[in-house]
Amino acid sequence: MSDLNLRPKFHITGDEGWINDPNGLIKFGGKYHVFYQSYPADINWGPIIWGHSVSDDLTHWEYLPHALYPDRKYDRDGCFSGSAIEFNGKLYLMYTGYSVNGGGSNIRQVQCLAESSDGVSFKKLGVVISADELPDGYSKADFRDPKVWRENGKFYALMAARVKHGRGRLLLYSSDDLLSWKFEFDVFGKDCDGIMLECPDYKPELGLLIYSEQFAPVEGSKHLNIHTTRFVVGKLDFEKKCFMQTGDSDICDYGFDFYAPQTFSEENIAIGWMDMWDRSHPSSQFGFSGMLTVPRRLSVKNGRMVQSPIVATVPAVEKSVKSNLVDKIKTGVISLRATELSALTLKMRCGGGYYTSLKLDGDEWIFDRSASGTEIRGHEKDLDSVRGLRRMPFIHKPTTELTVVFDKYSVEIFEDGRALTATIYPPDDADGLELEVKADKCSVQRFDI
Ligand code: FRU
Repeated sequence: MSDLNLRPKFHITGDEGWINDPNGLIKFGGKYHVFYQSYPADINWGPIIWGHSVSDDLTHWEYLPHALYPDRKYDRDGCFSGSAIEFNGKLYLMYTGYSVNGGGSNIRQVQCLAESSDGVSFKKLGVVISADELPDGYSKADFRDPKVWRENGKFYALMAARVKHGRGRLLLYSSDDLLSWKFEFDVFGKDCDGIMLECPDYKPELGLLIYSEQFAPVEGSKHLNIHTTRFVVGKLDFEKKCFMQTGDSDICDYGFDFYAPQTFSEENIAIGWMDMWDRSHPSSQFGFSGMLTVPRRLSVKNGRMVQSPIVATVPAVEKSVKSNLVDKIKTGVISLRATELSALTLKMRCGGGYYTSLKLDGDEWIFDRSASGTEIRGHEKDLDSVRGLRRMPFIHKPTTELTVVFDKYSVEIFEDGRALTATIYPPDDADGLELEVKADKCSVQRFDI
């Protein structure tokens, strides 16, 4: 592993090289397991394997041997994203086998299964849904990312797909034994906004569907990231063979760097890839590209998805703030509580002329990483993206609670159940915090890891 001092303190990065989506999230054998798309040989994406990390507290992670390698005909060019489930005491991983076969329409994406008794070494059981089991008219080259769960005594899996001359679709399959699967229905029955959907996730008990979209059209200040993640509140209706929306649909995260989240099997906790396709990765100078977010507890309140971070911390200092606070924090969490908040400017990771800021401006938070440190280049051409800005709605209420999770190369901001996540690359010693606030009462508590 390259120099550990150059790694984030508590965010998963993999042991070497490149990582993207979190995969196979599950509590098994008393530990939280997080697998992830990994290409250890390079700091760019390549024939992808499944890296593996475990934790007791969802904050301190230990790396285990890689779990899945592309070593079969059906997955020889990559073991793409997938999920985990426990069945009869064993841990099963359902993932997409990717083979290029000369490219274009010869590319095949098939759904595969692997099992493990100890949660460390895995035996491949082969292809369980081949591309021939797609309904007519769907692309055999774009069929991936199975998310499996159990409901009413059956297994279900949602897969991302695409119609041959159209855009992204979401397909539902069912099974009694994880080995043989039956196509149920096309969840929306029509094209989605994104050219391709990826990494669907569904929580029946919450009534919450999540999926990522590539190249969805911009809507105001939403979907400025060329790839984005959306939630829809509602339920799969197995009789009517469709998804019944009962609440909101919105982007999951208002920041720059959040994609392909997945929830733990049987738990309402999600982790996302804290990065993005089609961006530069300044961390590659330290031997790695890509990090995962901290886990977030998910719930649905008043028809809206609500997220709050899970970080195992020790409370440090609590200070009441009249109008200004100057402090230091590089890694850890700060939690601000204000009554009748009317103005706020928070400058984070300040030092040597660099800073990252969050400002309350009327009915929105404005996040600015234009002066945060090493520039992160993307393909987005809109004014906000070019200026390093992102916006998140603010709804005035008697009490505002703002939480910021800091690690070496990231800030994750939570307020009123919404989240704004961004990577930043300031100088290592930029640890200043400056707060200006106008409120009836305000207190700030700092937590250490
Ligand atoms: C999402 C994704 C998945 C795919 C994986 C490949 O980021 O494109 O659809 O399985 O990454 O690494």
